[in-house]
Amino acid sequence: MKKRPSSTLDSSKVQTPVFVIEDELLKHNLERLKYVKDRSGCKIFLAMKAWATWPLFKMVKKYLNGSEVSSLNEARLGFEKFGPEVHIYSPAYKSTEFDEILKNCSHIIFNSFGQWWQFRHQVEKFSKKHRKNIECGLRINPEVNMGADAGDMYNPCAPDSRLGVRFGEFEKVLKNDQKALEGLSGIHFHIFFEKDEQDLEKVLPQIEKKFGKYFKQLKWVNFGGGQKITDDNYDVEKLISLIKNFKKRYGVQVHLEPGAAVVWQTGILVASVLDIVERDGVAYKIPILDISFEAHLMDFVLSPDLELRIRGAGGEKKYKNIYQFGGCTCLAGDKLSQLYSFPKELKVGDKIVIEDGIQYSLVKVTMFNGVQHPDIVLWKKAGKEYIPKLIRRFGYEDFKKRMG
Ligand SMILES: Cc1ncc(COP(=O)(O)O)c(C=O)c1O
Repeated sequence: MKKRPSSTLDSSKVQTPVFVIEDELLKHNLERLKYVKDRSGCKIFLAMKAWATWPLFKMVKKYLNGSEVSSLNEARLGFEKFGPEVHIYSPAYKSTEFDEILKNCSHIIFNSFGQWWQFRHQVEKFSKKHRKNIECGLRINPEVNMGADAGDMYNPCAPDSRLGVRFGEFEKVLKNDQKALEGLSGIHFHIFFEKDEQDLEKVLPQIEKKFGKYFKQLKWVNFGGGQKITDDNYDVEKLISLIKNFKKRYGVQVHLEPGAAVVWQTGILVASVLDIVERDGVAYKIPILDISFEAHLMDFVLSPDLELRIRGAGGEKKYKNIYQFGGCTCLAGDKLSQLYSFPKELKVGDKIVIEDGIQYSLVKVTMFNGVQHPDIVLWKKAGKEYIPKLIRRFGYEDFKKRMG
């Protein structure tokens, strides 16, 4: 397997704040995913919740089968820009939106039998009328608690999780009605957060022990996302063999819906140092950036255990110049809790490159405090040079439209 190429970004060529997606790195990830898809015979859908820069979908859809969406808005975007295979999962659907969901989706995954029973008739009526075969599935919660280093926020099998039907509930329904799975084409589970093929290998038998007896009557089983497939250390050959064997055992199609893995280490968020605050009695300096951690990197404020890497920086103890980065909003907590150190002293105007800054950050940006939404740029080869190609710049009108 080809190793990830190095970043070629020259941060002096971009205006901050900016999300930069590196074309070559994105294609590297997509080729790796396509390799898994082609070799294993599974289908792969982009989980748009992790990244939805649709102007690039024209290229992305050459590698993947379709999109996996979480809402009507994402479904419309997936249908419009990615193509007709749109798989939706939401913890609950709203009856006022369901007709539009039917128009835009090819597969609908329900979180409970209750929702399936509520909408089943509507799906069947729509499919018949429009001669569009919409396939439905049920999300299960196999209660294989993988844990997540960053806490239960990212753990779908946490003890009090609302996600998916548990085995006990599943069996109870089937005991009352042996035909309860009729009309359903698939089963879906999403249980991982930044896990690898060894975790998948470990939990598949546990899931099969509970639910395996039902798989043979289905068309597909969706393994969800949360696998670091595009990480250099991930053994894709193992994944391919796990999928192939699963398909053989049950005669089903396997679906994967990676989000983070599609854009894993393909982009960065670049900021500039606006000021450096020094405090008596505080052992580090506080550079204030033209980004906001609260508005642009919310996950890292909510879950301080998530690791945020900054190019050229070490941990608190590595170099002698120690910093705590602060954002440009008025919120006291708009800062990173970890400390970073640099070999050289930082100064006003320096560019700070936040690694792996695309996944889940770009989609979650807010304009809290009216802060500037970072540009979106594609870093691309043009002849012998690399150039930034502006995809979108946001302005006052974008802020105003959200406020009224
Ligand atoms: C149902 C579902 N599918 C897929 C994903 C994508 O996961 P990841 O981005 O970790 O690959 C998620 C993430 O929350 C999810 O909830």
